[in-house]
Amino acid sequence: MGAFTGLRCAMCKTEFPPEALYVCDQCLGPLEACYDYEKAGRTLTRDALQKRARNLWRYRELLPIVGEPRTGFNSGFTPLIHAKRLGEILGVEKLYIKDDSVNHPTLSYKDRVVPVAATRAIELGFDTFGCASTGNLGNSVAAHAARLGLACYVFIPQDLEPGKVVGSAVAGPHVVGIDGNYDDVNRLCTQVGDRYGWAFANINLRSYYAEGAKTYGFEICEQLGWVYPQHVVSPVAGGTLLPRIGKAFKELQHIGMMSGQLPRIYAAQAAGCAPVINALENGEEYPEPVKPDTIAKSIAIGNPADGYQVLETVRRSGGTGARATDEEILEAIGLLAGTEGIFTEPAGGTTLAATINLLKADAIPKDETIVVCITGNGYKTANVMVGRQDPPTRLGRSLGEFESFISKRATAQVQS
Ligand SMILES: Cc1ncc(COP(=O)(O)O)c(C=O)c1O
Ligand SMILES: [Zn+2]
Repeated sequence: MGAFTGLRCAMCKTEFPPEALYVCDQCLGPLEACYDYEKAGRTLTRDALQKRARNLWRYRELLPIVGEPRTGFNSGFTPLIHAKRLGEILGVEKLYIKDDSVNHPTLSYKDRVVPVAATRAIELGFDTFGCASTGNLGNSVAAHAARLGLACYVFIPQDLEPGKVVGSAVAGPHVVGIDGNYDDVNRLCTQVGDRYGWAFANINLRSYYAEGAKTYGFEICEQLGWVYPQHVVSPVAGGTLLPRIGKAFKELQHIGMMSGQLPRIYAAQAAGCAPVINALENGEEYPEPVKPDTIAKSIAIGNPADGYQVLETVRRSGGTGARATDEEILEAIGLLAGTEGIFTEPAGGTTLAATINLLKADAIPKDETIVVCITGNGYKTANVMVGRQDPPTRLGRSLGEFESFISKRATAQVQS
């Protein structure tokens, strides 16, 4: 059933065997999974999909594994929500939220990349699975490793939100907090992977891991009834998700499942960590690394591994990018919860706030179809919203007390 054929350098096109390789030894370009698209198109059809389970593996012909999936049977196929109340406020009728804040089992988009990396880790014979993480990836790696009985190491910057740390630790991996930022953690993990021969989902298995992110794009098309949206706004940290959404849109054309105008793709970053937006504005081919300083810790990556691919995808699609300040991020979290009942974390607040800024700048027309990528859950980072709402009203237990509260409130409302 699979159509995965091997790895190829995205730059010089040298081919590589499907091992734990991620960088080209000729030109240092990133390695990408390749497929026999003709073969994939024979079995991956709209009809076939109707009979398949609603998880990320329904697109399995275009995922880089050779045997059977090992985990992720309840991951992916998250809701695509027509956000009518939010859309009314923003003046956008066709506004959609692709809601990975409810992805199973660890409530972020990472639950679609990790099952692919974990399955491939087992296929390649690894017994230890790890990652360098800003929080969500660690949660997902720890959870899937627990299910699979793999030894697990989660490396994080030591200043992450407590909800993110507990979310990994509870599944029993070795959690290693590094005195440094994510970019320091990533550098160390590259060395650890080489030295100990461990599988790191987002480092030496990156070529496989990244492919799982395509399922986010496949699902958007399927859930819109096999029509492309016109605009997609994606958060950018390491740069995995955004280019793979673009790749997914193109692959559906390659295998004959879709036709039509490809969407414009826009990058969203926090103002305190915006190397990709800087590069878009300055016309650079690669993002210049920055030192992150933002409440959006899950996307605080100053030196994105796939920065080049993000810039290429955004530019080729005709999109652009936008920043969001920490205050705009927090306001957007409240707005999304208050209109659609979706509680996202600062990464999601960044994407919505950047979308609002793009609309204000007329970079996205309000009368077209817009998908906002919400990729993480606010319950893990609830601390950032503490003190921003009215505190709960405190009353005694009698109905009389409640009645007097309500009548005072009514009077206050009439007077105001
Ligand atoms: C919630 C959330 N959204 C988005 C991202 C963006 O990641 P990337 O650009 O590496 O795909 C991350 C990365 O950690 C994340 O945790
Ligand atoms: Zn190369």
